[in-house]
Amino acid sequence: MSDTASRPVLYVIVCAAGPASHVERLVAQAQERGWDVCVIPSPNAVDFMDAAELENLTGHPVRSRHRKPGEAGSLPKAQAIIVAPATYNTLNKWALGIADNYPLGLLAELVPLGVPTVVLPFINSALAANPPLSRSISDLRAMGVRVLYGPGEFEPHPPGTGGSRLDSYPWNLALDAAEQAHRNASSMR
Ligand SMILES: Cc1cc2nc3c(=O)[nH]c(=O)nc-3n(C[C@H](O)[C@H](O)[C@H](O)COP(=O)(O)O)c2cc1C
Repeated sequence: MSDTASRPVLYVIVCAAGPASHVERLVAQAQERGWDVCVIPSPNAVDFMDAAELENLTGHPVRSRHRKPGEAGSLPKAQAIIVAPATYNTLNKWALGIADNYPLGLLAELVPLGVPTVVLPFINSALAANPPLSRSISDLRAMGVRVLYGPGEFEPHPPGTGGSRLDSYPWNLALDAAEQAHRNASSMR
């Protein structure tokens, strides 16, 4: 896509769960709606995706780690962030303040700076039954993060059934919520 200067920038942070292999669906929808999209996988998510295809689609490097000093390819500043699919691991680490990879470090800085952030988990019901998850979701919501978890949003699936949920993963809900949050943030400036 051309004319990136006039489009708001959306960071899509991708964790290592099944829907990561279809993140180009979110990229395409977001671009159709006028966003300049940067894909930022967790280091564990890199193997789930075709980084070259995503770089081609977005025109930005698919960056899963901090840039080395002097390395080219900086990303533009984000106006909104979507974390999808969000794993059990990343949600709990983020809520605890752990920033031991590039996307977690971005979240730790950008959320307090007021960048509207939306989370669409992909977690099975066994993982979801661990008490830390509900604490993490509640802590992230208290920070102003929009976590799409619950009836009408993402609901955990039985273990072993994730593969059959990939085609119905509601990327559009994350995009709708990011647009809403971006509009709200813009109207307050
Ligand atoms: C094929 C595969 C599918 C996975 N699916 C999920 C999943 O749906 N949800 C989840 O929370 N973790 C899932 N995991 C486990 C995560 O990949 C693992 O916890 C990893 O440490 C997450 O790293 P990240 O949060 O840094 O991306 C899956 C792992 C593999 C290998």
